[in-house]
Amino acid sequence: MNILILGSGGREHAFALKLSQSNKINQLFVAPGNAGTHQIAKNIAIDPTDFIAVKETVLGNDIKMVVVGPEAPLVAGVHDFFLADNDLKNIPVIGPKKDGALLEGSKDFSKQFMQKHGVPTARYQSFTKENLQEGFAFLETLAPPFVLKADGLAGGKGVLILNSLQEAKIELEEMVSNKKFGEASTTVVIEEFLKGIELSVFVLTDGKNYKILPSAKDYKRIGEGDTGLNTGGMGAISPVPFADDAFLDKVEELVVKPTISGLQKDGIDYRGFIFIGLMNDNGNPSVVEYNVRMGDPETEVVLPRIASDLFDLFEGVAHQNLDQKSFQVTPKTATTIMLVAGGYPEAYEKHKEITGIENVTESTVFHAGTTTKENKVVSNGGRVMAVTSFGDTIEEALKKSYKSIDLIHFDKMNYRKDIGFDLT
Ligand code: AMP
Ligand code: GLY
Repeated sequence: MNILILGSGGREHAFALKLSQSNKINQLFVAPGNAGTHQIAKNIAIDPTDFIAVKETVLGNDIKMVVVGPEAPLVAGVHDFFLADNDLKNIPVIGPKKDGALLEGSKDFSKQFMQKHGVPTARYQSFTKENLQEGFAFLETLAPPFVLKADGLAGGKGVLILNSLQEAKIELEEMVSNKKFGEASTTVVIEEFLKGIELSVFVLTDGKNYKILPSAKDYKRIGEGDTGLNTGGMGAISPVPFADDAFLDKVEELVVKPTISGLQKDGIDYRGFIFIGLMNDNGNPSVVEYNVRMGDPETEVVLPRIASDLFDLFEGVAHQNLDQKSFQVTPKTATTIMLVAGGYPEAYEKHKEITGIENVTESTVFHAGTTTKENKVVSNGGRVMAVTSFGDTIEEALKKSYKSIDLIHFDKMNYRKDIGFDLT
């Protein structure tokens, strides 16, 4: 069978590598892909939200399944587009339709969903410029720090955590009245600050059955010791030592089961990944957010730990018989370190030649923002590549990743030297 993966990050390279190991797959396509996917699949230079171009790619290459990496095509309705098209409607899409994608596309929707279905989450209310004064009054009932979230997609930048009430009021007004995050902040969710330590749990569902994949912890800040600006993620570790069986059982009972049954009760036929951002507060889970896709760089540690055929699980999603599928996970620890362009997440330069990847033997290098230019691999984004290693311990895996990184070079390369600092 031929398969198309939509997206161009480290996550999609990890999907491509894992799927390329399946003997049920004939040819793999990635759109648009990167220099890493180019080595194991055929890249197609189209925008994944250009559905007409996606259709041409699917029909022109006899593609029989589409795996959607990022949220944008899902929120824009790529799955609905397939179902509404006579030529495409029988081709399974791994990723929810628009109604399910709202779990990520609208924070207000996802909070309402959690409240309705009894999923533990921070107390909240939503406001627009029409009821700004009520927003101020709600802020006054909360203790600092104050958490303000733009309702819509804001490229990971739409959450503000503020220490003073006055600052929170000013920012709320900026968001709803002056469109600080454009249309995304027309509505703002204000919620209680959750204490604890964060982790991510990944669920794959066919709409009826589900599988809980390995959990991971991501390091979002640019600076060591979790300081500085937020990024898409600077590194990740799986499994998460503090997510023991007792905690993960609670997550399944209190979060995963009500989420899946809530989707069914609300008539949302959800087929794909649910990425649950959780706070662990003394062993009690509380949902920070849902995403409707896998995480990046979490995928670069989660998928390598899956020791069986990932495509088998995707077939389970497509045929709604995921309950009849099983998968194996290696008990080893996987770590990944993201190599980023100097300056990222602010302004940075592209098109830097990357050398030395071929000398890496102890790690897997997942390409993210890379492309091929005159037969050379060059940088093409802020997050450039993720270096993943295995070990019996976090320390052993990290040591390998850092040793491999010493072999790789590009001008102004930057990375965090303390991934896992809070766990080791
Ligand atoms: P989100 O986009 O909702 O995941 O928020 C981005 C980040 O802000 C999260 O990964 C958390 O680190 C932090 N955050 C969001 N909501 C809360 C909350 N209610 N309490 C504490 N931290 C939060
Ligand atoms: N690494 C966080 C995310 O993918 O949203």
